[in-house]
Amino acid sequence: MKQKNVIITGITSGIGTEIALDLAKHGHMINLVARSEESGNIIKDLIFKKTKNNDIHVYKCDLSLQKDIREFVDNFKKQNNSLDILINNAAMVPKERIITSEGIETQFAVNYIAPYLLSRLLLDMLKKSSPSRIVNTSSVAHTSGNLNVDDFQRLNEKYSMRGMRAYCNSKLALTIDTVELAKELEGTGVTCNAVHPGGVNTNIMRYNIPKFLQPLMKKTKFMGTLRLSPKEGANPIIEAACSDKYDKVSGKYFDRFTQKDASKKVFDKDVVAKLSEYTKSIVA
Ligand SMILES: NC(=O)c1ccc[n+]([C@@H]2O[C@H](COP(=O)([O-])OP(=O)(O)OC[C@H]3O[C@@H](n4cnc5c(N)ncnc54)[C@H](OP(=O)(O)O)[C@@H]3O)[C@@H](O)[C@H]2O)c1
Repeated sequence: MKQKNVIITGITSGIGTEIALDLAKHGHMINLVARSEESGNIIKDLIFKKTKNNDIHVYKCDLSLQKDIREFVDNFKKQNNSLDILINNAAMVPKERIITSEGIETQFAVNYIAPYLLSRLLLDMLKKSSPSRIVNTSSVAHTSGNLNVDDFQRLNEKYSMRGMRAYCNSKLALTIDTVELAKELEGTGVTCNAVHPGGVNTNIMRYNIPKFLQPLMKKTKFMGTLRLSPKEGANPIIEAACSDKYDKVSGKYFDRFTQKDASKKVFDKDVVAKLSEYTKSIVA
């Protein structure tokens, strides 16, 4: 495969580190998006040590902030002429509601608004480099989401179940946007798909499990629900980003390697239209 220019978010741990390592091993140019330069550089060094690929670049960006996202994209565009693959992989599950300095609920901002905005701001480059791909790391949790069209961020409700309800909602919104963006991109050569990586033993629940219980939970793979290794979790996302099998596939939801019907809630016309309108007003 010819060398691709790739952006990956959420690379400091878990599935994202493994995606970056694998794509670097195949000789691609990798742009690592990390909350701090220090955490990004640790992964850059690890990748170089393991793959000898030195075409690895770190960009600092707190994905909860649109200001950071816009700065990152400006920097990236100054230093690059092409973009073949965008992997929106970062996400978080805080245990309580935190409102960003820009006034958005953090989980809604990182898990949904960030991929939405990154994809839009980078579309011109992706189109210029087509055939090109956007892969959104979604989750089967989207099926448990319920979007309230009068309060998408659920700011007027109790932040319940240690953040899991907001997580499901953010993944539902992301899956809706995957389908909608793919429609907009028809005929451009840019595809957009959503992939659930499976139940993967990572640190994603670190803010929700008391510190003293974390080693036990990791050891028991969260009672068997997160049984896959980060490498195994990365594989379906790598496949969606690189395999020829996905050349003409767009707007689809994959449960690991299998194309599945996304939740019916993804196709609720009223919710889809109101979410689109609401999101446009937020990123305007
Ligand atoms: N693990 C599973 O079973 C599972 C199942 C379904 C879907 N997923 C999805 O898989 C993806 C990867 O998750 P993971 O399991 O590998 O979890 P993880 O190890 O916790 O990785 C999450 C990544 O997102 C980054 N991130 C979070 N907030 C950020 C912010 N404000 N700015 C920049 N980066 C930020 C984290 O960086 P920091 O180190 O700076 O926090 C970290 O690199 C997520 O989209 C998740 O929803 C996971």
